[in-house]
Amino acid sequence: MTAAAATGQCPRLERPDERGRFGDYGGMFAPETLMPALEALAADFAEAWADTGFVARFHDLLEKYTGRPTPLHPADHLSDETGTRVLLKREDLAHTGAHKINNAIGQAMLATRTGKARLIAETGAGQHGVATATAAAYTGLECVVYMGEKDIERQSLNVQRMRMLGAEVVPVTAGAATLKDAVNEAMRDWVRTVETTHYIIGSAVGPHPFPWMVREFQRIIGDESIRQLQGEPVDVIVACVGGGSNAIGMFYPFAGRDDVELVGVEAAGHGIHTGRHGASIGAGSPGILHGARTYMLQDDEGQVLEAHSISAGLDYPGVGPEHAYFADAGLARYVSITDEEALEGVDLLSRTEGIIPALESAHAIAWVAKDAARLAGRTVLINLSGRGDKDMDMIAAKAGIG
Ligand SMILES: Cc1ncc(COP(=O)(O)O)c(C=O)c1O
Repeated sequence: MTAAAATGQCPRLERPDERGRFGDYGGMFAPETLMPALEALAADFAEAWADTGFVARFHDLLEKYTGRPTPLHPADHLSDETGTRVLLKREDLAHTGAHKINNAIGQAMLATRTGKARLIAETGAGQHGVATATAAAYTGLECVVYMGEKDIERQSLNVQRMRMLGAEVVPVTAGAATLKDAVNEAMRDWVRTVETTHYIIGSAVGPHPFPWMVREFQRIIGDESIRQLQGEPVDVIVACVGGGSNAIGMFYPFAGRDDVELVGVEAAGHGIHTGRHGASIGAGSPGILHGARTYMLQDDEGQVLEAHSISAGLDYPGVGPEHAYFADAGLARYVSITDEEALEGVDLLSRTEGIIPALESAHAIAWVAKDAARLAGRTVLINLSGRGDKDMDMIAAKAGIG
C-alpha cells in the first residue's frame, strides 16, 4: 500500500502522467520502430479527445449504432438468492454482445481521423475481434485479427462472426496459442506496417497511450452507471479482470470515493495453489509485459509464465498498468474465482435472471455468490461484461446438456 493510501489521502487521479505512467506502472517499453508511432498516437488521441465534435460523434455512434445506454438492471431474483441487492450493468446487451465495442468504435474513429487504411487486433475470447471486425466493416477499413489456435477452437462462433464481417483471422500457434501469443503477433505485424495500420488493442494493456485511451473509451460504463443510479448509493462494485478494460471503465469514474468498494475478479483457473491460473495481481509481481510495467506472472528469471483460465478472455498473464496502480494504492482490491466457481456463476445467473453470462463475466457473479454472507444487506453493482453465446459449447459440455 502506498503512503497516500495508508494515510487516507485521496491519491492523485489525473493519470497517466506525461510519460504514460500510472505511479510506478505503465510507460512506453516498445521497439525503436514503434516509438514515433506511439508518440504520434498519444498526441492524436489527446487532440481528438479534446475535440468536442469527435467526442459528440463517438457518443452518437455509441447510442445509435451500439445501443447505449445499456440498462442498469435490478436483479431481484439473484438478490433474493444471495441476500444482497444486486444491480447488473448490462454490457452484454451492447451491439456484438460485450463492452469491447465501445473501445473498438472509438479506436476505429481515431484510425479514420489519422488516415489509416487497415486495422489489426488480437483477440482471446473473440469478442474484441468481433468488435474490431464490426467497426472495420462499418468504417470501411481492412481488418486482420490475430487469435491463438486454442482460442480459435474454444470460441468458434466468434471466429465465424469475424469472417462473416469480412475480417481475416490469422491463427497463432506460438506459446500456449492463447491471448498473450496473439498480442505478440499483432505487435510484430504493427512493427512492419505502422505507416498504414492502426493496432486496436482490446484491453487496457500495452504501451502508452493504449491503457489511457482504452480507459477513456470504456469509462462510458461507469459514467453511465452514475447517471442511472440517480443518487442511489452503491456499496460494492464488481467486475472481472482479464487485461482490465471493462473493470477500469466501470471503476475509474468511482475511484477515490470512500463510500464504494471496488473489487476486481481475476481468474484462479484450476486454483492459485496449482500454479495454473490468470491471477496476475493476486499471484504475480511487477515486470514488463507487452510494452508496460505491470503485475505479471513470471518465474524467478523474469520469464513470463503461461496463464490458465476456462475463459479465454481472462487467460492472460498480465493486467493493465492502471490496475497495478489501483492495487498498490488501495483504490481497488483484487480477488480470484476458479473455473469451477465461474461455471456455477453461469448456472446461477441463467437460472435466477434468465441471463446467460459470458464465462468472463461469470467470475464476477460467482464472487458475489461466494461472498454473499459478508455482502448481506449491501448494494452490489456487477458489470456484466458480456453474454454467453460464444461459450455455449463449453458450458453445455460441462453441464452435460445437449
Ligand atoms: C465478455 C468479456 N468480458 C471480459 C473480458 C476480459 O477483458 P477485459 O479485462 O479487458 O475487460 C473479455 C475478453 O475477451 C470478454 O470477452
